[in-house]
Amino acid sequence: MGLLNTFINRYAARRRASSTSQTTTHHVNGKQVFRNIPEACLPVFPVISFKSLFGIFSKKPATVLDHGYPDIPVTAARYAITHALRLLDIKPGDEILLPAYHCTVMVAPIVKMGATPVFFKIAKNLDSDINDIAQKITPQTKAIIAVNYCGFVQNIADVRALCDMHNVALIEDCAHSFFGQKDGVTVGGYGDYVLVSTRKFFPVPEGGSLMIRPPFTHTTRQKKRTLTASLRANLSLIEKSLKHGRLWLLAPLIELVNFLIQGTKRLLGKVPSPVENTSVPSSLVPDMKNIQEGENAYIHEIADKQAVYIHQLIPKLLNSVQVTKRRRQNFLWLYNNFQEIKGCRVLVYELPDGIVPFMFPVYIENLQKYFPAFEDAALPLQRFAQFLWDDTAEEACPVTADYSKNVILFPCHQELSQADLEWLAQTVRTILERAE
Ligand SMILES: Cc1ncc(COP(=O)(O)O)c(C=O)c1O
Repeated sequence: MGLLNTFINRYAARRRASSTSQTTTHHVNGKQVFRNIPEACLPVFPVISFKSLFGIFSKKPATVLDHGYPDIPVTAARYAITHALRLLDIKPGDEILLPAYHCTVMVAPIVKMGATPVFFKIAKNLDSDINDIAQKITPQTKAIIAVNYCGFVQNIADVRALCDMHNVALIEDCAHSFFGQKDGVTVGGYGDYVLVSTRKFFPVPEGGSLMIRPPFTHTTRQKKRTLTASLRANLSLIEKSLKHGRLWLLAPLIELVNFLIQGTKRLLGKVPSPVENTSVPSSLVPDMKNIQEGENAYIHEIADKQAVYIHQLIPKLLNSVQVTKRRRQNFLWLYNNFQEIKGCRVLVYELPDGIVPFMFPVYIENLQKYFPAFEDAALPLQRFAQFLWDDTAEEACPVTADYSKNVILFPCHQELSQADLEWLAQTVRTILERAE
C-alpha cells in the first residue's frame, strides 16, 4: 500500500503541478530575449492514457488516410514537404506559393532546395485568397501549398480549380486536419500531394506522411529506425504520460528502467543523475529533441527517416471515435465559455458537422501585453506563425500581420478533462481581467 501511495504521489498527483522550467524567446525592441517559464501543466498535445485505448475495434470516422494513396512515412509533416518538392523535381529559380500565415518549418524545405517561397494572402476566416494567388502565379510557379487550419477544411476546392487552370501542383497541407469532411469530400481530397502530421492528433512525438495522389508515384525508400530508437520511443511515450498523471500504473516499469540505467552508469564509473523523491525522475529518453531538435527546427537529413514503428502504429490503434467526439465537445465548451471572456474573440464562428478541431484559436487584442502572464501561469498554448520566415510575409498580408501577433491557440484535445477546460478558461479570464 505504501509503495502504491508513493507512485500516486509521485505520478498520479502531478496534474497541474508543473515544476520543470523551459526557455522561451521574445522580441523586445527588435532584440531576442530569453525567459525561463514553467512547462505547461496540461499537455499541449495529447498524451497516451488507458482510456484512449478502449474502443480500438469501433468504426473509425473519416480520416485523411482513407484516400488510400501511396505514402512516404516521415517523422513530421515538414519532411513531407521535402519529399513533395523532390518528387516535383524542384530546382533553383522555381517558385512555390504558400500562405503568408505559416510556420517557418513549412518554408525551410523550399529554401533548402533553392526554390523561392512566394507568400499569398489569407482571409480573416483563414481561407486562401484566390485572387491574390491568381495574381502571383508566374511561369516559374511549380506548386501551391494550401493549408487547412486548426482542423477546419478551408477553400481548397477553389485552389484546386486554380491549379488545374495553370497546370500547377497542389500540396494540400493537412498537418492540422486529420479527420473530417466538407461538402462530402474527406479532408485531403484535393491535393496532388497531401501532408499528414499524426503527431498533432495522437499521443506520439513523431509521425506523419506524404500521401501521393495517383497518377503521381514514388520509389522512395525511407530508412528504418533502430531497435534502440524504438525502445526509447516506447519508454518516452510512457514517461510523458506519467508526467501528466496518466498511465501511472506503469510507473514501476519506468522506475525499474531508471534504476537499471543508473546502476549501469555507476558500474561504468559515470556519475548518476540524482533521483528526486517528489517528482518524476529526470528523463530517461530525450524524447523528440533527438529527432527534430525542437519544434522549430528543420534538419534536411531527417527527411529520409521514417517514424519509429510504435509511433506509426498508435494512430491506427487508438480509439478515433473518442478522439473526434472529445475534440468536438471540448472545442464547443471552450467556444461557449470564451465568448464571455472580455477581450477574447473566437476566431472561427461555428463548428460544422464532420469537422474535428486541432486547436482552439482565439484572437486577443494586444496579446503581447498578456502573453508573459499566460506563460507564467503554465497555460498550455501555441502561437502559430508567431515567427514568420521574413518580413515579406507580413507585408504581403495584413491579416497575417495581425494574427501572428494576436492569435493564440489553446488545446482542445481528447485528453483534457472538464476540470482542465474550466481551469484553462478561468486562468485566461483572471489574467485578462486583472490587467484591465
Ligand atoms: C500548417 C502547418 N503545416 C505543416 C507543419 C509541419 O508539421 P510538423 O510539425 O509535423 O513538421 C506545421 C507545424 O506546426 C503546421 O502548423
